[in-house]
Amino acid sequence: MAVAIEAERLVKKFGQHVVLDELSFTVDEGTVLGVLGPNGAGKTTAVKAVTGLCALDSGSARILGHSVSKESNVVKQLTGFSGQYAAVDEDLTTMENLVLVGRLYGHTKSDAQRRAHELVEAFDMGSYARKRVAQHSGGMRRRVDLACALVGTPKVLVLDEPTTGLDPSSRVSLWQMIQGLVGDGMTLLLTTQYLEEADVLADQILVMSKGRQVAHGAPEDLKGRLGGEQVVVELASTEADTARAAKVVEGILAGTGAQIATQDGQLSFRVPDASRWLASCVSALTADGISIGGLSVKAPTLDDVFFALTGDSMEPTEPDAQLAFITGGS
Ligand SMILES: Nc1ncnc2c1ncn2[C@@H]1O[C@H](COP(=O)(O)OP(=O)(O)OP(=O)(O)O)[C@@H](O)[C@H]1O
Ligand SMILES: [Mg+2]
Repeated sequence: MAVAIEAERLVKKFGQHVVLDELSFTVDEGTVLGVLGPNGAGKTTAVKAVTGLCALDSGSARILGHSVSKESNVVKQLTGFSGQYAAVDEDLTTMENLVLVGRLYGHTKSDAQRRAHELVEAFDMGSYARKRVAQHSGGMRRRVDLACALVGTPKVLVLDEPTTGLDPSSRVSLWQMIQGLVGDGMTLLLTTQYLEEADVLADQILVMSKGRQVAHGAPEDLKGRLGGEQVVVELASTEADTARAAKVVEGILAGTGAQIATQDGQLSFRVPDASRWLASCVSALTADGISIGGLSVKAPTLDDVFFALTGDSMEPTEPDAQLAFITGGS
C-alpha cells in the first residue's frame, strides 16, 4: 500500500516552547489515522504542518510523495483541510460559501456552481443551501465546513477535531459522512479528543503528549493495553460480604488475568469482553446468597488510555460511551 501522508521528525518551536518534538508518522493511502491527545498536545500544529499551513523548524512532510514545503501548489490541490474552528463565512449562504471556495481554487463560475450543487446533494444539505450560515446549527456549520474542504476534490483529507462541541446525533451524522468518504477511498488524517471517535473512524491511532508520540496502534490494541472494560459491582448487603464476594468473582474470572479491587461493599475489575462474564458473576454471587445493589460496565475512555500510557490525566472531556444498569436490590 502506498504512503499518502508522511511526516518525518517534525520539530516546531514557539520561542523556547517545543510544540512538536521529532514527531514522525505515516498514513497509508485509503486509511484513516486518528491523532489523539489532550489540549495543547500539538495536534493542530502537527496537522497544519503536514498541510503546509505551519512552517517547521526542522523535519519534512510529504503528501502522496510531494514535498509540502517545496511543492506547495501540488500539495494544495491534493489536500483538503478543515480546521478546528469552522472557517465558513457566516454572512454567506451554504451555496455561496461553496462557490467562493471553488473560485479560490481557480474554478470558473459555472464549474464552481456545479461542484457546490454536487456537494449540497451529497451531504443532504438541500434545505440549508440558500440559508445564511449564521442561521445554521453547529452540526450543519461543520457539515458546510467539511463540504468546503472537498470542493477541490482532494485525495487526502485533514480534519482537525471535526465534531468537538457537537451533540451526539450531529456527531454521528458527521461520522457517517466521513465514513462515506473513506469508503470511496479517501485518505484521512483527523485529530480528536474522543477515543470513541477514533475508535469509530480510525484504522490507526497516534496518541500525542507534549509534542511527542506516546503510543501508536490500532484502536483495539490501545484499549487492549488497559485490560478491557471496567466492571463495578455494588453489593446490596453489608461490607462484611465484600471479601467473600471477591472470592466468588475470582473463581469465575480465573484464567482471565483480571485483578479484583475491593472497597467497602464494592468490587471492581477490568476484563476484556465484560458482557461475556457478567451473567456468570451475577448468578454465582446470587447463588452464594450475596445480593447485588448495582452493576456498571464502563468502556475505557481516552483518559484511561492516556493515564495508562503516561501516568498523566487528560483535561476533563465528555464521558465516553457508558453502559450502566441496576439489577435487583435498591
Ligand atoms: N501561534 C502560536 N504561538 C505560540 N504558541 C502556540 C501557537 N500555536 C500553538 N501554540 C502552543 O503550542 C502548543 C500546542 O498547540 P496545539 O494547538 O497544536 O495543541 P492541540 O493539541 O491542538 O490543542 P487543542 O486540543 O486545545 O486544540 C500549545 O501549548 C499552544 O499554546
Ligand atoms: Mg487543536
